[in-house]
Amino acid sequence: MSQTADWPLLPLALRLEGASCLVVGETVQAERKCELLVKAGADIRRMGAEEFVKTSSSGSLATALENVMLVVSATGDTATDEAVAAEAHAIGVFVNVAENRLLSSAIFPSIVDRSPLLIAVSSGGEAPVLTRLIRNRLEAFLPARLGHLAQLASSLRERVKAKLTNINQRRRYWESVLEGQVPDLVYSGAEDKARARMLEVLDAADDIDSGGEVYLVGAGPGDPDLLTFRALRLMRQADVVLYDRLVSPQILDLVRRDAERIDVGKARSQHTVPQEEINEMLARLALEGKRVLRLKGGDPFIFGRGGEEIDLLASKGVPFQVVPGITAASGCAAYSGIPLTHRDHSQSVRFITAHLKNNTSDLPWFELVRPRQTLVFYMGLAALPLIARELVAHGMAGDMPAAIVSKGTLPEQRVLTSTISELAALVAAEEIPGPTIIIVGTVVRLRDQLAWQTDALDAAS
Ligand SMILES: C[S@@+](CC[C@H](N)C(=O)[O-])C[C@H]1O[C@@H](n2cnc3c(N)ncnc32)[C@H](O)[C@@H]1O
Repeated sequence: MSQTADWPLLPLALRLEGASCLVVGETVQAERKCELLVKAGADIRRMGAEEFVKTSSSGSLATALENVMLVVSATGDTATDEAVAAEAHAIGVFVNVAENRLLSSAIFPSIVDRSPLLIAVSSGGEAPVLTRLIRNRLEAFLPARLGHLAQLASSLRERVKAKLTNINQRRRYWESVLEGQVPDLVYSGAEDKARARMLEVLDAADDIDSGGEVYLVGAGPGDPDLLTFRALRLMRQADVVLYDRLVSPQILDLVRRDAERIDVGKARSQHTVPQEEINEMLARLALEGKRVLRLKGGDPFIFGRGGEEIDLLASKGVPFQVVPGITAASGCAAYSGIPLTHRDHSQSVRFITAHLKNNTSDLPWFELVRPRQTLVFYMGLAALPLIARELVAHGMAGDMPAAIVSKGTLPEQRVLTSTISELAALVAAEEIPGPTIIIVGTVVRLRDQLAWQTDALDAAS
């Protein structure tokens, strides 16, 4: 069954040592491809464009293609390249056609060579200049002796495996040496010292802590660029991740690829995994020796129940750390051009949860209706008519500016501005999807001059 692919080309590394590869053409590109295939140890067969045409018309092409794993065509002649590609496709062999991504089922990526470490960069031929620029950046950024580091690590691999039989312990050993002074020793040419240091750490490896830990990490409101460096680092090293519904797929993609993923997402009034169970799960997984990433939308300590989660960990003596994230109010305000405070408008801001129990209005409404104060309601979409009614009933002017930000900071962000009396009707008419936050206060007026997210699907009224 075929379907539209998210990745029309899957990056794979091929072991071509001793494998037959046919290169058709005598152009400069054909030479370049041959050089790469030689590096990979391929058994290269060459054929000129004319020879290909002759072989094809004499019916002996099947013999020439026998046992070939990869065909490269760089004849400089479109019709011949097309004929080569057609033959290769017909017998199900991967083919690369120089400068013709549509005819190619295999492409040669740009390579940053730090053997045995190879970094391949490719846009599948869609954006070659961008690919080149990224490759240049990587070249400049990655130390020239990075390959020596990889070789050194490889030379000790079996020894480490023999000494540390537990995979978590091994992973931690490698992280500790590769994030310590060893890389700098290698880069400065002191490989003997680097090796000695690695062995020293290995000798003391029984002391390497293989105990688990919980990372309670705020993932921000959605845009992955808003993650903190620390969040990203912990996301890269976690063994298992428990994530919420509000964590965007783009962010989840940044978690270590082989980490176990557990969706404990909560929709409003539909708690898929009860909070107590999440708390217990975190403790249990960490006590099993795992590094557990609890990834939450926004900031874990703002309407995130982060406090409850670490409460149990603290009582059981499970180590944990908390990484703040950008809360929805800050992210949505910034991306919609509505400053939450402003000398001329507002000197304080209140973050309020509008997730009202049993639809009751148990908020301190009088306190909320104050001059020069911005209100930000989280989880307020369903309660918006009630919020508006209560604020006006407690003295707020009906024409107080109000905005709703839906899916803030994501490409689908929408912002509607209106007044507190009219916002609910507008939201209902536009069928605004969650998650949303509602901002109330005269700061909303500033959006007209400060909105900078011109690409967002912006429905300001
Ligand atoms: C359970 S609270 C979690 C808040 C989170 N801890 C934070 O600091 O942003 C969920 C609410 O946050 C708000 N929210 C989270 N992400 C949002 C986004 N990208 N755009 C708008 N509102 C968002 C919505 O009000 C949603 O109902």
